[in-house]
Amino acid sequence: MIDRDTALGGAPLTLLQQDPYPLYDRLRAAGRVIWSDQQGWWMITGHAEALAVLKDSRMSVERTRAEGFDRGMERQPRRSMLVLDPPDHTRLRNLVQKAFTPRVIESLRGRIVSFVHDALDRAEQRGGLDLIEDLAYPLPVTVIAELLGVPSGDHEVFKAWSAAIAGSLDPVERDLAPVVAARQELRTYLAGIIAERRHHPQDDLITRLVEAEEQGDRLDAEELLQMCTLLLIAGHETTVNLIGNGVNALLDHPDQLARLRHDPTLLPTAIEELLRFDSPVQMTVRVVTEPIELGGQSLRPAQMTLVMLGAANHDPDAFPSPGTLDLSRTPNHHLSFGRGIHFCLGAPLARLEAQLAIGTLVRRFPHLDRSSAAQRRPTINLRGFSSLPISTAP
Ligand code: HEM
Repeated sequence: MIDRDTALGGAPLTLLQQDPYPLYDRLRAAGRVIWSDQQGWWMITGHAEALAVLKDSRMSVERTRAEGFDRGMERQPRRSMLVLDPPDHTRLRNLVQKAFTPRVIESLRGRIVSFVHDALDRAEQRGGLDLIEDLAYPLPVTVIAELLGVPSGDHEVFKAWSAAIAGSLDPVERDLAPVVAARQELRTYLAGIIAERRHHPQDDLITRLVEAEEQGDRLDAEELLQMCTLLLIAGHETTVNLIGNGVNALLDHPDQLARLRHDPTLLPTAIEELLRFDSPVQMTVRVVTEPIELGGQSLRPAQMTLVMLGAANHDPDAFPSPGTLDLSRTPNHHLSFGRGIHFCLGAPLARLEAQLAIGTLVRRFPHLDRSSAAQRRPTINLRGFSSLPISTAP
């Protein structure tokens, strides 16, 4: 864990929140695989090395396999696919994969379009919007809530729980009591919905998962609960940052914003570049399970590696002029959705939501400008804004 005052490479936390990329460049110049004595883990800063770690079956997502793992920190054993290795990971992922096929995601297009237009109609009347509060946050929340079958009207209730749990994904020391409380309240809330679906099945994902649980040993009750939690949190805390960071980058680069406005066919490559340029998820963790040679270093079993996706996405060996925002960049093998068997399940959904939100915003409003200062969220892993006020009037 990193202490609050100094973070990766000794940089102050506030600097990492504002602009971590110069620090990443300095770390990468020091090494693409660096041991941090202070933190007691490897930092993976190069693209090729990060990719190798993510694709290596000798790298585990199970933190319990790390030396010094404190079991007291976790009340319930973690049973979500994000933190499980095969074969449990494979079984759980196969169960929900069907809910995220391109056909299912495409069927959500109409709903997303109407949500975006409603939000932008209100913005037009008011001459502006807070991009985060009025569009980037409620859009993915509403979509995942509807897909799961969680009343979307309740989203104000679980906003605080979700934010507390997401904050705990930061590799920074913080008070765990609110996180434990939030997890418990969200569990109770979801358990109530699951119990209700057992008696009154609906046409939603929670009902389909309940049926899978009742059919036998494919999913136990704890896994069912943690699956719902994972999807709900993922739907709350990631796409918001893609839309927010993406629009922020466009406002910082008016030439690229103008390009996109004049050529909407750029939208798919533009979204990939926005994902690379300021990634919503900056890092993930793997535990070494067998001796591994990487980047000229010898990694030992039970050591932790911090895979720095944001640093890998700015590695000049993988991306020419990585600090330049180029909406037509191809190829663009960014690692913002991870890679390997844990590659983001929600990537097609996130891409569609971002394309429709950012594409429609740019198309409808020829004048987009900041109306007051944006506020960054206090997290360094899930990187984004809590507020991004924009004026849409000329
Ligand atoms: C721009 C938005 C998103 C970003 C940047 C993102 C990023 C990521 C990353 C980096 C991983 C891999 C973590 C690792 O390897 O340790 C991941 C996994 C995952 N994501 Fe996303 N995500 C996004 C949106 C979503 C959405 C909307 C959902 C679902 C509603 C979702 C569900 C998941 C799930 C279930 C996993 C675990 C997959 C597995 O372990 O096999 N994500 N995501």
